[in-house]
Amino acid sequence: MCGIVGYIGTQSATEILLSGLEKLEYRGYDSAGLAAVCNGQIKSVRAKGKLHNLREKLVGMEMPANIGIGHTRWATHGKPEEYNAHPHTDDTGRVAVVQNGIVENYRELRKDLESRGHKFVSETDTEVIPHLIAEFLSNFAGNGKGGTGNRENFLEAVRQTVNKLDGAFAIAVVCADYPNEILVARQQAPISIGLGQGEFFCASDTPALVSHTQVVLSLENGEIARLTPLGVEIYNFEGDRLNKMPRILNWSPTLVEKHIFKHFMLKEIHEQPNVVRSCLEAYINSDWDAMNSLVSPTNLKLSSSLYKNLEQVEIFACGTSWHASLIGKYLLEQLAGISTTVNYASEARYAPSPLRKNTLLIGVTQSGETADTLAALAMEHQRRLDKPAEFESRLLGITNRAESSIANLVNQIIDIRAGVEIGVAATKTFVAQVMAFYFLAIDLAWQRKYLSGERIAEIINGLQKIPAQMEQMLEAQDSQIEDFAHQFNDTQDFIFVGRGINYPIALEGALKLKEISYIHAEGYPAGEMKHGPIALLDDKVPVVAIAMPGLVYEKVLSNAQEAKARDAQLIGVTPESTEADVFDSVLAVPAVDELLSPMLTVIPLQLLAYHIAAHRGLDVDQPRNLAKSVTVE
Ligand code: AGP
Repeated sequence: MCGIVGYIGTQSATEILLSGLEKLEYRGYDSAGLAAVCNGQIKSVRAKGKLHNLREKLVGMEMPANIGIGHTRWATHGKPEEYNAHPHTDDTGRVAVVQNGIVENYRELRKDLESRGHKFVSETDTEVIPHLIAEFLSNFAGNGKGGTGNRENFLEAVRQTVNKLDGAFAIAVVCADYPNEILVARQQAPISIGLGQGEFFCASDTPALVSHTQVVLSLENGEIARLTPLGVEIYNFEGDRLNKMPRILNWSPTLVEKHIFKHFMLKEIHEQPNVVRSCLEAYINSDWDAMNSLVSPTNLKLSSSLYKNLEQVEIFACGTSWHASLIGKYLLEQLAGISTTVNYASEARYAPSPLRKNTLLIGVTQSGETADTLAALAMEHQRRLDKPAEFESRLLGITNRAESSIANLVNQIIDIRAGVEIGVAATKTFVAQVMAFYFLAIDLAWQRKYLSGERIAEIINGLQKIPAQMEQMLEAQDSQIEDFAHQFNDTQDFIFVGRGINYPIALEGALKLKEISYIHAEGYPAGEMKHGPIALLDDKVPVVAIAMPGLVYEKVLSNAQEAKARDAQLIGVTPESTEADVFDSVLAVPAVDELLSPMLTVIPLQLLAYHIAAHRGLDVDQPRNLAKSVTVE
């Protein structure tokens, strides 16, 4: 999950590449580099660590070039050191490559190339690619295929190279002998082409393109693009020329700006009320009411083939999307009576459950590019394709990127419309995913007559109040929690507990704190504490308990009491009305229907994690060792 950019045109390439990498730095920030074709030579500059190190290195450096490629790295193979930074070149330094992904068969390719005299200088898998391309180019020259004079040789060398690579990868290549071309190839890792006026761009993700053009072409798997000053040609890995229609993005470049906020994460937390409003506008059928139940209460418009004789749902997801899916399970089972299983995609890939008829498979991924989730879905799809007489494959994707890889894999998607999320810690996409599950559960409850029209109306009315309630909380709590967070500067461990529909919120609160403040934190079902984790408690371990009026309210309060009896500092995420003596401090939440409460109980936990990390001076938007979308296994 690195970030790749490329530019060919009339402007100076360096600044365009650097600003593109800035927009992709959330994908990885272990090192950065760029290569430009200057006066018939490849000029490559790389730096360890954040992009600003590369920028500093380039100050005062002459890079007169209108063509170049760039990279920001999330280390998979080889330490985050400069010698492992991209671009990587061949021995002659005339071919330079940047890659996002993994070449799984790089060891055998490297061994073969070393046996042919190639010298390797890095520990990476990527370095085999420029060496392979150089090998093919020299073969073509040797076989009288007219060396560098033959323009097709570069494309052919890259084509033959990508056909030798196993794994999920996207690459961009420049060659000093072909100074007017960038070659880009995709196999299972995202990359898009931006079409400008006499200039062309490539990037792993659209935020790096929107400030230059809204006209974008997404490469599909098994495709190569040739970018020249005159235009873009697309080929498949077999070498056939393809015709592809670009699409118009309609993204304002300000979407990827921080505006008044110190971090994208805080901006995205404050965007949640409007994100929920936009989901309600899009997916609640305003013509529906409890009396007129002939039409669905939602505008999901999912094809009836997905629902036909539906008996169970199987969900695949990772990280925060897995937590949203646990709430989805609760809603689908409690509101629509559908038995639902939630799988860690990375586990399900290697332990598939027995095939069952009439199963809806759902992949939940905000980026739409998480390798484990895509692979688990593809595997489940193939298992059913292999037994067409017995099983049919029904695939639904819940994603924030309608143009992403999952959209190409599933029958239908629910676009969660959260807008691009830059902060590595997911916030607004989490609440938007949960909203998607409310709509799906309501749609199925109506379709299966599992809930009365009155109850559906009640839930919809409650959801429509959520944006204003979120705004009140953000207004009241942001600075309050900022002050409150100071006391945890030296805290080493945190425990979060919840029950029922708020147990996943305890998990999410713990994950947010872990990933941005580096504090060890665990989320537990409150009732599980006394079966072991309670042994962790003492006066140095704060316990956050989510206690919302409803089925399990009293149970959570007594679990909180048990923790208090072990001197733990008790923080309640609960309505003001809750008996004060249980908690040492309260992060107040309006007393809404328990079923809707996760949309609100998550807010103070996002703010707590944010302010603890910000107060520690940590890089909240780009936490160490993480990346926004995990496109490798
Ligand atoms: C959440 O804050 C993390 N960024 C991470 O756990 C993330 O949720 C996970 O990688 C799944 O990403 P996806 O939704 O894009 O598939």
